[in-house]
Amino acid sequence: MRTKKKILLIICGGIAAYKSLDLIRLLLRKKYEVKTILTKSGKKFITPLSLTTLTKDKPYQNLFGANDNSKIDHISLSRWADMILVLPTTANFMSKLNKGMCNDLASTVILASNKDIFLVPAMNVRMWIHPATQKNYKDLIGYGYKFIGPENGEMACGEYGKGKMSSPRQIFAVIQNYFRNKNKFKEKKIKVLITAGPTREYIDSVRFISNESSGKQGYELAKCFKKLGIDTTLILGPTSLDVEDEIKTKNVISADQMLDVVKKSLPVDIAICVAAVSDFKPLKFQNGKIKNSKTLKNLKLEKNPDILEYLGKTNKNRPKIVVGFSAETQNIDKNSEEKLRNKNCDMIISNDVSKKNFGFNSDFNKISIIDSNGKKLKFNKNKKNYLAYVIAREILNKFLSDDKSLN
Ligand code: PMT
Repeated sequence: MRTKKKILLIICGGIAAYKSLDLIRLLLRKKYEVKTILTKSGKKFITPLSLTTLTKDKPYQNLFGANDNSKIDHISLSRWADMILVLPTTANFMSKLNKGMCNDLASTVILASNKDIFLVPAMNVRMWIHPATQKNYKDLIGYGYKFIGPENGEMACGEYGKGKMSSPRQIFAVIQNYFRNKNKFKEKKIKVLITAGPTREYIDSVRFISNESSGKQGYELAKCFKKLGIDTTLILGPTSLDVEDEIKTKNVISADQMLDVVKKSLPVDIAICVAAVSDFKPLKFQNGKIKNSKTLKNLKLEKNPDILEYLGKTNKNRPKIVVGFSAETQNIDKNSEEKLRNKNCDMIISNDVSKKNFGFNSDFNKISIIDSNGKKLKFNKNKKNYLAYVIAREILNKFLSDDKSLN
């Protein structure tokens, strides 16, 4: 590690809070800088004095800083950190974060943060598997929070199951890995290209062939990669999305334009085709509005270029990882696997679009992630931002395991 990384550790009220002291020792030994926030309930489990003794810095405790180390406010504190870690993350704290509450220093720093935030849950198994906590868990992942654990095991209350906090060593390993990978992405200048949205194939000046794709799924993916500091380009068909300025976006209308911009954006390391490209386009475009309905009746179509297939099969600048999406209403996985092979992809996201309340133009999606090596992960209907996170994680894991130069 080249520069000293700065960790802001938020300690909440749970019996596992005492393990934060071991983690701090591990971090300091590896030359991380550590500052702490101790919540009101965290203080019931460990003392400010223990934290001050270890970190040589008083824990921050109050939002308005009347009686503690108040040289730094909540905004500066969140900007100071390279990573924020909440340990233990209680069910109550997850619920607070999901609502976007900021009624104490810890929740305010988090809401104001522009850094990656890792939550380390610790709670009784019943609390963890409760649908409310599980909903909070998925929503928080959708917001971009990262989770470490929880693990299966015996809990302080004597019960057994999922909810036990990961050990300081496990947490430390995740932190080390996180910074190592971030450095690798930066050093290697990894580039990701994502196509999203529909294409429009104009028949005349006012009519076109298109579909209901909103571009949401592709945009959520672009945000995930961008958050990891990866150079990401979004090639977007016509949508009403309000895309953040931070995402490098190239707007296109037709499939031909999309292919053209894709080719110009190569080389990239990873290409992900989420776009619902119109399979056909009119053989002839007519300027102005066609008056004669007969002409529309005789409309002749031709096949559009297949962008995913181009990326999968090109000998010039083929991305290391080519990922397709496959929208299907029946025999979903079987048909998707066929596309994976035919278009020479490394991975395909098979997408059930049989119902109106997920898939096209919805905040929800229902997918399986199918790897060319046969691995398959199936997901129930979930929010697109949550699925974007799991898809990005699978793609990056594949990329990292395939790229020997990164290991
Ligand atoms: O945009 P949203 O409203 O968020 O909806 C998301 C989605 C449902 C559009 C998305 O999740 C999805 O499934 N995208 C793929 C849609 C599609 O066109 O699937 P397909 O099975 O027809 O195509 C298979 C693959 O080939 C896709 O990766 C597609 O981008 C690509 N393709 C298809 C035709 C073509 N001419 N060029 C292509 O690149």
